[in-house]
Amino acid sequence: MKSEQLSIFPEEFVDIESNGNGNVVDSNEYFRTKLERKYADRLYENLKIGSLVSYQGNKNLPLLRLYRYKEAFSYQFVRDFFNEFNISKKDYVFDPFCGMGTTLFTSCINGISSIGTDKLPTGVFIAQTLPQLLTLEPGSILKAYEEAKRRLPDAQEAEIAEDVRIMKIAFSPENLSALRKWKTVISESPQPFKDVLGLLYLSVIEHCSYTSKDGQFLRYLPQKEIFTPVELLDKKVVEAEQDLLSLQKLGWNKFPSYPDVFQGDTRDLSDIPFKREPTFILTSPPYANRYDYTRSYSLELCFNFVNNFDELKKLRFGILRSHIESKEEEGDSSPHEALTEILENLYRKHQIQKLNNDRIPIMLLAYFVDMHKVIKEWYRICARDSVVAMVVDNVRFEGEHVPVDLILSDLAEREGFDVEKIIVARYKGNSSQQMGKYGRFPVRESITVWRKK
Ligand SMILES: C[S@@+](CC[C@H](N)C(=O)[O-])C[C@H]1O[C@@H](n2cnc3c(N)ncnc32)[C@H](O)[C@@H]1O
Repeated sequence: MKSEQLSIFPEEFVDIESNGNGNVVDSNEYFRTKLERKYADRLYENLKIGSLVSYQGNKNLPLLRLYRYKEAFSYQFVRDFFNEFNISKKDYVFDPFCGMGTTLFTSCINGISSIGTDKLPTGVFIAQTLPQLLTLEPGSILKAYEEAKRRLPDAQEAEIAEDVRIMKIAFSPENLSALRKWKTVISESPQPFKDVLGLLYLSVIEHCSYTSKDGQFLRYLPQKEIFTPVELLDKKVVEAEQDLLSLQKLGWNKFPSYPDVFQGDTRDLSDIPFKREPTFILTSPPYANRYDYTRSYSLELCFNFVNNFDELKKLRFGILRSHIESKEEEGDSSPHEALTEILENLYRKHQIQKLNNDRIPIMLLAYFVDMHKVIKEWYRICARDSVVAMVVDNVRFEGEHVPVDLILSDLAEREGFDVEKIIVARYKGNSSQQMGKYGRFPVRESITVWRKK
């Protein structure tokens, strides 16, 4: 084995016969089996909620349907959890990985105070803007839109992050120019329309482009059918207006409690101005599945939130280390013996036949180091007896099953949480490549439920 390959594994795995305590590793699934046994009586299946942990459930809901944040969970999922845990106006709800803000929006319309953080400005912007729509009179978005449209022919092209590679190929010259002019006229609109039209604008960018958010990637599809910004915005504004009317009829906007949303890193919440200790966390972190939010949302980031490639890269290396370009940091070391076992097995496999992607071990180690910090931070800031409910996906690489739900729950228990239950919402098949090589192995998507003692 070449020495540079060794560097993908932490030093402690160089002696593959030892588990770090000087003992011979006699079973390559020993610690995972132990975990499965330990938590067997706290694992419950509720496959009915499987479809609710995804964004699909929001497709026909007023306002939430306006932005397709693929990684969001549904309104009904949040509402069901609020009901199950009797969340009321006395509570203070926190979503530390808030994304488009489904937890916060649900809190808002039920009059429950909430606060959220996300490391990416796209998520923060959507989560802040959606509740603002509750304040608008029907007809007002259309009026602001028509006004912006009137100014379009004379508008200058706004600055965008032009030096990012995907921006050079993602658009026809006409659509690129039109999108830049729309950015200008929208940014000149008065508030709250600047934000509201800005949200609708963000929601159409992908459909104006030769790209598609597809699985883990932003795919470049030069043959894709594209639409002009004005075609798409005309439709979006009609949708938004219909939603304002529906909301009026539903009486949804009677007593909202607007959330506080901050761009922040949940690994260190020391700067977040909580009004009091949160009593309920309902959240979903990035999964340890190589997905990179700064790539999937690079167009939206490049139009509105970063000025150049350097700023985009800074975001990429500033988010939770769940993607393949994640960098190792000094002092990273496995926080759990089940992870150590997985990394040792990957190391063995790598010695026999090079791994498909030799950055997987770094990503897994970094992911659990980061999530361990997150768990400690949540324990620190939450009120006593508060509940933390978190949607997570297990993963499998090179035939190695990574029970993310159990490893994180065990770390949470060590930090002082009671692990009340782990609800299995879905089983996902592994990739066809893995299936061919290692057989079919359904992996859980679960909701871990912990309580601060
Ligand atoms: C699965 S999504 C959450 C979706 C959310 N539940 C919703 O309904 O929209 C995970 C989010 O974590 C964010 N994120 C990544 N690293 C973060 C960090 N260190 N701190 C806070 N948020 C982070 C991502 O930008 C992404 O929006």
